[in-house]
Amino acid sequence: MVVFLVVAVLALVLPGPVREPSSELPALAGSHGIELGVAVAVNPLTHETEYRDVVTDHYTSVTAENTMKWQYVQPERGTFDWSGPDAVVGFAEDHGLSVRGHTLLWHNQLPAWLAQGSFDPDDLREVMREHFGAVMGRYQGRVASWDVVNEPFEDGSPQLRENLWHQTLGEDYVAEALRAAHDADPEAKLYINEFGVEGSGAKADALYELASDLLDQGVPLHGIGFQGHFVHGDVPEDLAENMRRFADLGLDVEISELDVRVPEPASDQDLSAQADEYRHVLESCLAVSRCVGVTVWGVSDAHSWIPEWFPGYTAALPFDDDHAPKPALAGMVEALRRGRRAHGRARGKVTVFGMR
Ligand code: G3I
Repeated sequence: MVVFLVVAVLALVLPGPVREPSSELPALAGSHGIELGVAVAVNPLTHETEYRDVVTDHYTSVTAENTMKWQYVQPERGTFDWSGPDAVVGFAEDHGLSVRGHTLLWHNQLPAWLAQGSFDPDDLREVMREHFGAVMGRYQGRVASWDVVNEPFEDGSPQLRENLWHQTLGEDYVAEALRAAHDADPEAKLYINEFGVEGSGAKADALYELASDLLDQGVPLHGIGFQGHFVHGDVPEDLAENMRRFADLGLDVEISELDVRVPEPASDQDLSAQADEYRHVLESCLAVSRCVGVTVWGVSDAHSWIPEWFPGYTAALPFDDDHAPKPALAGMVEALRRGRRAHGRARGKVTVFGMR
């Protein structure tokens, strides 16, 4: 009787068996030693079976698309809402997925008390450290890497962005943020995440200079996220070459927010060419030994940020509005089936904080 009761209680308390992925993608990604990630939104993740199945069948890692951003996590000073982040991290743990933390410092999606507040440098430093301590502390050992500084450069320009942090703390805010993040979780891998830097160019060069300077100063920077919000027909050829120079500094690199938007209406020919572009991105990651993964920015076209932000564009992701796989998914599979993984150690500037 006692045994029966214990078994019955355990059956209620323990999670059910984890479903085996129905696609070969997670195993293929694992065989190359990379993560294949996807950005997730809390509402469909907790309510839609099809959405969850796409995540667990095809990916090895998740990024919270919005719910870990400052606006949602600390809507009032000192008041934290963990419901969304807990749901994402809990889901990942239940299904053996890793989590990219996104994002700690950004100019967007800030709560009003912060965006419209007035802070002297010491106040703002305290605000930063309180936030990092709370968020990184809660997920210490559960979220292995964080986008600490998101989009530090102006859109389409190599100038450091004039955001709240820059205006109040000066350009050293990037170094300060990375040091504060390292204090909050000394084991976490710390990233700068940026867009418009995937191929060579003035903005990529400016990011390279910044990363190099930070490493020379001994600042704990471990990786660069190249977001990868591409327009169909304009995916940089030199993606691998550009990422490799950052890897040669001793940094991990990854494509952190991949999508390839297509002008409406997307023809079969467009979608087939888009598959080649997804394949190229995966192959580029495989070609760089320190490329640790590729994350696509949304589960399906129905959940993509693209139609709201770029009217006239559509179909940016590997699954369509009905969660059916598109040629882009086959492009990723092909890259992983046929692709060869680059090996070899990078010359590195990172010695003190490097974790590999
Ligand atoms: O929170 C409100 C909700 O209360 C309201 O009911 C709803 C009505 O539309 O809007 C909700 O806010 C939306 C928010 O996402 C959360 O869903 C905003 O309208 C929407 O504009 C916002 O867009 C997000 C965008 O960041 C904000 O800048 C996108 O979903 C998200 O994909 C996007 O992600 C960024 C990365 O974090 C950084 N890199 C660029 C990338 C694309 O912009």
